[in-house]
Amino acid sequence: METRLQRAAHLLDVPHLVVFTGAGMSKDSGLDTFRDADGVWSRNAPEDYASPEGFRRNPRAVWRWYLERREQILAAEPNAGHKAVAALEQLLPRVTVITQNIDGLHQRAGSRRVLELHGSVHRYKCSKNCRGVSTLTPTPELDQTEPLPCPYCGALTRPDVVWFGELLPAEVWKAAVREILACEAVLVIGTSGQVEPAASLVWYARGRGKSLVEINPAPTLINDIAEVVLPGTAAEMTPALLAALAALHAAD
Ligand code: APR
Repeated sequence: METRLQRAAHLLDVPHLVVFTGAGMSKDSGLDTFRDADGVWSRNAPEDYASPEGFRRNPRAVWRWYLERREQILAAEPNAGHKAVAALEQLLPRVTVITQNIDGLHQRAGSRRVLELHGSVHRYKCSKNCRGVSTLTPTPELDQTEPLPCPYCGALTRPDVVWFGELLPAEVWKAAVREILACEAVLVIGTSGQVEPAASLVWYARGRGKSLVEINPAPTLINDIAEVVLPGTAAEMTPALLAALAALHAAD
């Protein structure tokens, strides 16, 4: 009798795999998710800290909030789940990570192809987008409690992350759609699937007949379209899935 893990491994043993991740991926690194009972939004109002209006109302508070999150993220380490995702690249010809996370932990774990749909807390940009791209990398001067003026136009700088009501970076979105269209299977880890347009990529993949496996310790909106749901944490289930895939290749 094939186990759930073995069935998942067969579905994901493909030439081109997309791994779609959310905040649950980093929970085992000590970083809170957003919508769990102890999540970020249980303590902070997203309209105050993750919206252009909130930044306009109180840029210092928003800047300081992201500085605190960046410090937590820099103190965190990639967990066994991030490392297992990176290790998939040793087994499969092409692995692309499409993440909603802004923490950069996939890259620190060794994943080489990572699309950050919601930007990165490790980059700043001009709040007026004067150069159209994220033009500033953190420096000791920038990592202060006050947003500094953009060196190009003098407007305030801000984290290069996507806030509610903002468009996703066009080039990243186009690349993500291309990867979803080109892949044969999607592994979804640690997302509630509630935030658009990011989550629509998962439904789009399923609609185009891609295999779909989900890792999550709790029920989500994605359960109904996943062929296999592995009920567990990223740090437990992803290494187990990697081992099941490696066993398939060892048997070759
Ligand atoms: N391992 C895997 N998944 C976990 C773990 C864990 N250890 N702990 C919790 N989860 C799951 C939860 O069950 C939930 O389904 O992670 C998911 C987190 O969901 P959200 O908090 O909604 O985070 P996410 O789906 O990434 O949110 C998407 O919303 O606020 C915006 O920009 C923010 O990128 C974020 C987006």
